[in-house]
Amino acid sequence: MNAIAEPENAGEAHGRAASKSAVILISGRGSNMQAIVEAGTGADVRAVISNRPDAKGLEWARGQGFATEAIDHTAFKTRDAFDAALAEAIERYDAGIILLAGFMRILGDGFIRRHERRILNIHPSLLPAFPGLHTHRRAIEAGVKVHGATVHFVTSELDGGPAVIQGVVPVMPDDTEETLAARVLQVEHRIYPQAVRWWVEGKIEFNAAGVVSVRGTGVITDSMISPGTAQ
Ligand code: GAR
Repeated sequence: MNAIAEPENAGEAHGRAASKSAVILISGRGSNMQAIVEAGTGADVRAVISNRPDAKGLEWARGQGFATEAIDHTAFKTRDAFDAALAEAIERYDAGIILLAGFMRILGDGFIRRHERRILNIHPSLLPAFPGLHTHRRAIEAGVKVHGATVHFVTSELDGGPAVIQGVVPVMPDDTEETLAARVLQVEHRIYPQAVRWWVEGKIEFNAAGVVSVRGTGVITDSMISPGTAQ
């Protein structure tokens, strides 16, 4: 049994919460998808779906023998119509969990409620700092000394759902958006597979307030201080 508490309105999701089956949604390069697949998390990836037919990651997924689908959002008149097509595809693959891996479409409330506590996302900042776009640029502009990435469950609040795991990196004085993005991406590739593994192992729990904890995780005793002292 997966330990994720069943939301009250889970409806049809009941039973499938225990499933290891996953569908990965991408919009572009798909390096997080690749990290999840290569890490061997135990998830049974049933399909990779993109809202962009030209997403680079689709080629890689096809090459790995995964079922792939492109559901081009520009072909739909409304967000609801796109969401319905997406939900129908996900239904077909009987996905226990939906993994957003660089999926750049905002999902509608109905879709999110229907898959409550079954959608994970990776966001390139230490949420709740810098929700939304251009996170690395904004981190540099704000002058923060640490930055990072967050894997969280998706709720109707943009980038606002409960965090499962976060990875921290230093911000260097000479960082550009690109160098910082590259450093954050490395940590993304570590934390997303870890979160998926925890899901598969049934270790993720929600408390009454909806905050996530992970059973049996290690104790961290050191802290990161940035910048470091001069050599
Ligand atoms: C990643 O940095 C991911 O955190 C970010 O897009 C990139 C996708 O890279 N996601 C978001 O900004 C979501 N709002 P990838 O396609 O190589 O995994």
